[in-house]
Amino acid sequence: MNSNEAIGIFDSGIGGVTVLSEILKILPNEDYIYYSDSKHNPYGDKTDSEINQRCEEIVNFFIKNNCKVIVIACNTASAKSASYLREKYNNISFIAIEPAYKMVYDYAYDKPTLVMATRGTIESEKFNLLYHTYDNYKTILLPCVGLADIIEEGNKEKIRKYLEIHLNPYKGKVSNVVLGCTHYPLIKNEIREVLGEVTFFNGAPYLAKHLREILEEKNLINLENKVGKITFIDSSNNEEKKKRFFNIIKRPFIKGLKKLV
Ligand code: DGL
Repeated sequence: MNSNEAIGIFDSGIGGVTVLSEILKILPNEDYIYYSDSKHNPYGDKTDSEINQRCEEIVNFFIKNNCKVIVIACNTASAKSASYLREKYNNISFIAIEPAYKMVYDYAYDKPTLVMATRGTIESEKFNLLYHTYDNYKTILLPCVGLADIIEEGNKEKIRKYLEIHLNPYKGKVSNVVLGCTHYPLIKNEIREVLGEVTFFNGAPYLAKHLREILEEKNLINLENKVGKITFIDSSNNEEKKKRFFNIIKRPFIKGLKKLV
């Protein structure tokens, strides 16, 4: 492994871009290979073994492409497969996102809290351990079945309707909202339209800091003075998704999708 190699980062689709955006703020000169597995989206309702299988395929792809570390930018994949992957591929580091529930404990313990995440994350052992360790006894766990799917689709009208139906019962009743799926930071404004003024908790800035610490510790920080290269790969070869991705990270869009190796 050497410092000039890329960082692999993946999600079930475009959601992980919210994690990459935070990483780019503090590690702009690294190269990245982003894998959007939109052909198999959503992960939220898949079984553990289906998710392990998807993750393995993506990890093998990153290893073939010499990635120096791997970022799991999907809460569901982290909750279900991070331990499995760490055990199976023990010579590469995995940095895994998780819902920022500890942050609520640290900074806003006394406030009513809504945790939004996929059903897979909320039902996982890993999340339950986190939840019971930092429980503020004023928390509602809301499995948002199908939400990541419509964010992936990008249909604003469907998103508004979904939130109107599912979030309305919590209007005025919660002040903290944990964005426990990496797709959800993309719809913060729409969530506020229904819930009003709330404080969002997102694990991505912490993951970014942790990633930098790991790279420093392992002497894998890229010290070249340049803007890093970002390669986008989408398992359903969706050019529109690529455009959206580069728009969000504010980097120039170059036509044509990379093929999988
Ligand atoms: N973005 C994902 C997460 O953080 C997965 C959403 C899905 O595919 O269901 O959980």
